[in-house]
Amino acid sequence: MIHVTDVEPPGGSPYPVLCGNDLVAGLGTIWKPTWRRVALVADETTAALFGTDATGAMTALGAAVVSVVFPSGEASKTRATKEQIEDALLDAALDRTSCVVAVGGGVVLDVAGFVAATYMRGIDHVNVATTLLAQVDAAVGGKTAINVPRGKNLVGAFHHPRAVLLHTGALDALPDVELRNGLAEIVKHAVIADAALFDAVEQWAPVRASLRPPDDVVGRAVRVKTAIVARDDRDRGVRELLNFGHTVAHAIEHATDHAVPHGHAVAMGMVVEARVAVRAGAFPSADLERIVALFGTLGLPSVPTCTFGDARPFLGRDKKTEHGTLRCALPVGIGSAEADDHGRWARAVTDDELSQAWL
Ligand code: GLY
Repeated sequence: MIHVTDVEPPGGSPYPVLCGNDLVAGLGTIWKPTWRRVALVADETTAALFGTDATGAMTALGAAVVSVVFPSGEASKTRATKEQIEDALLDAALDRTSCVVAVGGGVVLDVAGFVAATYMRGIDHVNVATTLLAQVDAAVGGKTAINVPRGKNLVGAFHHPRAVLLHTGALDALPDVELRNGLAEIVKHAVIADAALFDAVEQWAPVRASLRPPDDVVGRAVRVKTAIVARDDRDRGVRELLNFGHTVAHAIEHATDHAVPHGHAVAMGMVVEARVAVRAGAFPSADLERIVALFGTLGLPSVPTCTFGDARPFLGRDKKTEHGTLRCALPVGIGSAEADDHGRWARAVTDDELSQAWL
């Protein structure tokens, strides 16, 4: 496992991010001897793939391990799953010195992290991210949440993990659609803050042997996020930038009843939102063309699969809407973004601007 970075959140303790193929070595590196009782939280897919290795490693490190497994998929990100995990932790007598080890993609990490945030008013947790999307997004930054009938991620907490393992060996077993979900977020990180990362993806994409990006690309994308989180872990300032593409993406996902995978919707959203900026004279059209070309090479879409009219009812329901005004994070070119005079990293956009940029 290579050391990617240490996250230094203003509202939490520093924690390491490691990346590589060796889950057992990774757990050994980050382990704390106080974690005598541990809950391994996984979905059915990740429990089958990684449960034995993870349990064996933690048992060898001296921990008593209870496994909590639930069905794979977004439908499990519920209050009921949170209760199931909490009851298992209580039955296994986990206490304040215990640790939750979450192994999986965003759903597992979000719900397990939320349990850790509230169990006994907060215990340690470790994120072992096994999807590309979770590795470059959910695993770092301390956002935890569940979905409720009224919307996604509406109940949750900020609770940073004690360590993050990006199990990139797991990516070989990941379907291409999942890899594309993560690649869209990598491109997003490149556009908002790292022109050299954009160059690297641009060079790799046409000659790639598969959609699994090199570990150094994953690590570099993660460092974009951790640098932002180090400045703003509570979503009050520069962290808004991570929402580039997402105002539109969330509306497309809702309007299509989630038939469009998240990363594909983010790619469409980035293009629409960047086009708003191009039309406002605030983003070079040549940079937008590079983004569209890169998405083409990666097999990601650039054109929304629903009309603006279909998406419009869902645009206002986004958490980023303020007093009814739509807001979009808008970089000023590939690799750079600037706050406005009020220190905001997203700006109000009108219906007209979005509909004209929709194409
Ligand atoms: N996924 C966006 C964030 O962590 O802020």
